[in-house]
Amino acid sequence: MRAKTAEVLGAQWGDEGKGKIVDVLSERFSAVARYAGGHNAGHTVIIGEHKFVLQLIPCGVIRPNCMGVIGNGVVLDPIYFLDEIDRVRKTGLDIDGRLFVSNRAQVILPYHRMIELAAETAPGRQKIGTTSKGIGPAYEDKMARSGLRIIDLLNTSLLKTHIEAACEEKNAIAHALFGTDPLDPAKMYDDYAAAAERMRPLVTDTGRLLNGILAKGGSVMFEGAQGTMLDIDHGTYPYVTSSSATAGGASIGTGVGPTAIGTVISVTKAYVTRVGGGPFPTEIHDAIGEQLRARGNEYGAVTGRPRRCGWLDIPLLRYSNQVNSAEWLVVTKLDVLDELEEIPVCIGYEIDGKVSDEIPADVRGLEAIKPVYTTLKGWRQSTEGVAEYDKLPQAARDYLAFQERESGAKIGMISTGPDRDHTIVLPEFAAALDGINA
Ligand code: IMP
Repeated sequence: MRAKTAEVLGAQWGDEGKGKIVDVLSERFSAVARYAGGHNAGHTVIIGEHKFVLQLIPCGVIRPNCMGVIGNGVVLDPIYFLDEIDRVRKTGLDIDGRLFVSNRAQVILPYHRMIELAAETAPGRQKIGTTSKGIGPAYEDKMARSGLRIIDLLNTSLLKTHIEAACEEKNAIAHALFGTDPLDPAKMYDDYAAAAERMRPLVTDTGRLLNGILAKGGSVMFEGAQGTMLDIDHGTYPYVTSSSATAGGASIGTGVGPTAIGTVISVTKAYVTRVGGGPFPTEIHDAIGEQLRARGNEYGAVTGRPRRCGWLDIPLLRYSNQVNSAEWLVVTKLDVLDELEEIPVCIGYEIDGKVSDEIPADVRGLEAIKPVYTTLKGWRQSTEGVAEYDKLPQAARDYLAFQERESGAKIGMISTGPDRDHTIVLPEFAAALDGINA
């Protein structure tokens, strides 16, 4: 029997529209758990008049009966997190008693941001175009075994000595390398000790909590952040984030083992976007790119940066489905393509005169790629808000069928607008979801 869990993650470079999909699916789950990243993520959910942009809090909490869990794989700035909780409470959403944070998650402190900002702007450094939230330096400290975990944040004497020692080191490094002004450890301690007290009731062993829910017959959804091609191992390194955004990250980042991952649902737009630096083989550099950006409102939910837009990339999607063992695909923003007469889709890569569908491991290889396109017919008809598959124009159905056939995963859902109702759920997928909750 399959475990009563599902994982939802991004197929490309993030911003695939996972927030809405997690929201739509979460009514079927007892808990939704984040497993990687931090407040570099920005999940937008629109419900009627309300727009929620959640960066750390799992989108599942918008459903009144769903528990939200922040797993051990996440890096969390307590001051930012408490602000987000306050913002969510102001919308009238009651999350008391159903939001929990892993005692093993790592803490982001102000010196992580200081180091990142200085390093990203220093002359001669490779610019990744990060979100400047201190994510990378916090994961560096985790791997260097010098990080502070949430459990340590709650221990005031340990917190004090950690901050003093870390500030001495980080201030010296930042000053020597980048001429940065030092941070004050006493103020930092006061701020974070106060935040720790507010955090205390939310902190628990979330691995135990999630395994306990499953043991009692409950169901869990794992909510991915960022996307497969931003994964530290499988993405377009070094233009990646610092965590495991792919399917395996859910086990590492929550303490629920891999055989308990019931199915993997990969979310892809009908086209592709990317923010920040790094290779993007199918990027569109002409007016059509502008048109997609405007129509799809392709601006970062966290940083407001314009997103780079490109055509669907089948080799990349196939690679992503393989890395994630993705069973299902969810295609979002289909309606953004409504006005196009023809839609190019990349079906291969030409590298040094040879056509291949292998994703080069090195960035220079990716930059040297000449995408090979086939052209599919556009539908020139509105699909905005369509909620039934049969109501889609034939050319749109052909486009989806092509994507499904070439990518190796089944399309389970299609999103045709920002609202919960602007969603097509295909019968086989609905049956599979019913099976998870049976
Ligand atoms: P970091 O995660 O802030 O270290 O940024 C590393 C790279 O990941 C940059 O290119 C960011 O733009 C990108 N990135 C991080 N989080 C997201 C996200 O939620 N959506 C899209 N891109 C992201």
